Amino acid sequence: MLEIEGLTRRFGGKTAVDRVSLTIPSGQMVGVIGRSGAGKSTLLRMINRLTEPSEGSIRYDGVEVTALRGKALRDWRTRCAMIFQQFNLVQRLDVLTNVLVGRLNHRAGFMGTMGSLVKRFSAEERAMALMALDRLDLADQALQRADTLSGGQQQRVAIARAMMQEPKVILADEPIASLDPRNSKVVMDALRDVNKRDGITVLVNLHHLDTAREYCDRIVAMQAGRVMFDGVPEELTAEKVREIYGVSEAEFQEAAQEAV
Ligand SMILES: Nc1ncnc2c1ncn2[C@@H]1O[C@H](COP(=O)(O)OP(=O)(O)O)[C@@H](O)[C@H]1O
Ligand SMILES: [Mg+2]
Repeated sequence: MLEIEGLTRRFGGKTAVDRVSLTIPSGQMVGVIGRSGAGKSTLLRMINRLTEPSEGSIRYDGVEVTALRGKALRDWRTRCAMIFQQFNLVQRLDVLTNVLVGRLNHRAGFMGTMGSLVKRFSAEERAMALMALDRLDLADQALQRADTLSGGQQQRVAIARAMMQEPKVILADEPIASLDPRNSKVVMDALRDVNKRDGITVLVNLHHLDTAREYCDRIVAMQAGRVMFDGVPEELTAEKVREIYGVSEAEFQEAAQEAV
């Protein structure tokens, strides 16, 4: 269980995330929605400790994440995989090596030796990477360079890489914002699959309300750093959207889309 309490982040005079409290049971798929600047990315980045909180607490299974240092912090980051809008693959390397990079989280200074990297992994790790790729329907692309893949394929490689970390939690920050509808569906289906089949908790920032409604067990809507709504998709009616944002859903969607 992930317990967030009074979580706050200020940047100078600006409060990006403002006293957010959320209790997320293991295995839940949570969609975080809100306009650009609402604090969605900062919230996810604090959970992974890429951004340090100004105040508040984050506990995972009773352990205070904000207090972790050194190896314990690196271990947490391994258990808590991030997926980004821009995939963040090493473009000149093949797909399999990119996936194996997911095993390296705890090893320091690996970038300089990337060329001969594949040989450093055990047969088990390579088999595990191939299985992850197969599951994401990318086994045929394993030896292709990352830069030959479509955006949707690259994001699936990023998910396979995340799976190599054997995470408890996946934090996906606008994972489909750069993708067309068909690829968006493939990537969201993949996230749902790891959530449902592996029981991995998924927190996903989304700008499409409909996508959040379709895929998520729970929707958290943020505005100006605060949680304005937290409930099941059925509760997030068009009237509710208007109440929260003071605009119609269509207008909200337009504003959210401009951000990307
Ligand atoms: N590194 C930073 N330095 C200064 N301000 C930041 C930084 N990161 C985010 N912010 C500000 O915090 C607010 C929330 O940003 P963000 O979390 O990126 O929102 P979202 O992901 O919902 O678009 C915005 O006003 C943004 O400008
Ligand atoms: Mg963002």
